[in-house]
Amino acid sequence: MPPVTAQAHDVIRSVVRPGETVIDATAGNGHDTRFLAQLVGPRGRVYAIDLQPLALQRAQETMPAEGQSQVTWIEGDHARLLELIPEPQHGQIAAVMFNLGYLPGAHKAIVTTSVTTRAAVEAALAVLRPGGVITIIAYTGHAGGAEEASALDELLTGLSPSMYDIERGPIDPAKIHPPRLSVIRKCD
Ligand SMILES: C[S@@+](CC[C@H](N)C(=O)[O-])C[C@H]1O[C@@H](n2cnc3c(N)ncnc32)[C@H](O)[C@@H]1O
Repeated sequence: MPPVTAQAHDVIRSVVRPGETVIDATAGNGHDTRFLAQLVGPRGRVYAIDLQPLALQRAQETMPAEGQSQVTWIEGDHARLLELIPEPQHGQIAAVMFNLGYLPGAHKAIVTTSVTTRAAVEAALAVLRPGGVITIIAYTGHAGGAEEASALDELLTGLSPSMYDIERGPIDPAKIHPPRLSVIRKCD
């Protein structure tokens, strides 16, 4: 089974076109931001959000020169996504990526929560263009992770099927706490 991060990249690649605008809602070490910057190219835009300066610093340091110009770095809480993303972009966003949890190699107290994730995903739905996609990778092995995953399940289950298609990635039976990909597609 491919890693969940590769599964998410495959989904995003099938939707996003060069020149489009996308969001990395959890920039972290910058793996997804680099992927998105390469995908949208120099005419596109990536809004890369993270709560902690250390993450943004790491992500910026590892961004190749050819990706720098299309990334806008935002230090902030993704629960406030509607304020962080310029209003003219609302309804224009092709994709939003979430990779939940904490920054690998940093303080585990700075972590996504059921409350902030719920607010952020609801805001992401509001800024998405028709046909756009949200990918969310959730982890249950850390404190609060199971609660967050179940809040996310509740949110996804409550979405109108006439407005959104929901897909769940496979669960790796070899892992004790397998990470799980959820995909939300906004209907055209
Ligand atoms: C698993 S890491 C993300 C990994 C990243 N996507 C990558 O490719 O390297 C999760 C990140 O979410 C950030 N985070 C936690 N709560 C947040 C919030 N409320 N708003 C924005 N970022 C948050 C953490 O600081 C951490 O860097």
